[in-house]
Amino acid sequence: MIYAEILAGGKGTRMGNVSMPKQYLPLNGKPVIVHTVEKFILNARFDKILVASPKEWINHTEDILKKYIQDERVIVIEGGADRNETIMSGIRHVEQNYGLNEEDVLITHDAVRPFLTHRIIEENINAALEYGAVDTVITATDTIVESTNHEFITDIPVRDVMYQGQTPQSFNMKRLSDHYHALSDEQKQILTDACKICLLAGEKVSLVKGEIFNIKITTPYDMQVANAIIQERISHD
Ligand code: CTP
Repeated sequence: MIYAEILAGGKGTRMGNVSMPKQYLPLNGKPVIVHTVEKFILNARFDKILVASPKEWINHTEDILKKYIQDERVIVIEGGADRNETIMSGIRHVEQNYGLNEEDVLITHDAVRPFLTHRIIEENINAALEYGAVDTVITATDTIVESTNHEFITDIPVRDVMYQGQTPQSFNMKRLSDHYHALSDEQKQILTDACKICLLAGEKVSLVKGEIFNIKITTPYDMQVANAIIQERISHD
């Protein structure tokens, strides 16, 4: 089976003082999360599309998905305390409700990246089925500078081999779950990226090419950029 999980379990603290988590803020008249889920329902290969939200926003999430999206594959579930825990609650939901098979894959995606494309989704599904762990990336355009003491440069890695991580990140569900549950609580605190968990477990993590416009809405400035992207698309239609 092929599952999607839209990660909307965060509080969006870096967005500042807004009335609701950023995934529910309006973008061209529709909540951000609706734009994102719309991209996923267009793909017929998904058996279920899980949407993980904070507990206190579950009713709201169900209401807006009922209003804007009518697709029986979409199911709202409760997210977790951090992003990886939200991914794990998706895997748990599948395990408890449909059973987890060796070959099942999960395409995870940030609810606050509404501009992903059909190509990116398709390539994630294909690579997840083939390799079991996938990251979506773009080449780094700025030079990456490392400073482990936050005062002086400790390294400047060669830019040609540097990428910036986006989402989707996609996984063989059983293998990711096994790797995650083998971690200590301390390791779970440090390993906040699910692909890194697979990497450290010795998996090959394959790359899918993202897009510069597949931005993550994190700050009020990103919201302005997202609005500009939408307005530009409307003016070209
Ligand atoms: N996320 C999640 N569950 C969590 C934390 C984050 O599903 N417990 C999701 C967010 O909803 C978001 C995505 O992961 O769609 C990317 O995370 P980020 O931008 O860091 O979101 P927040 O944690 O909401 O933002 P902030 O760090 O500013 O509080």
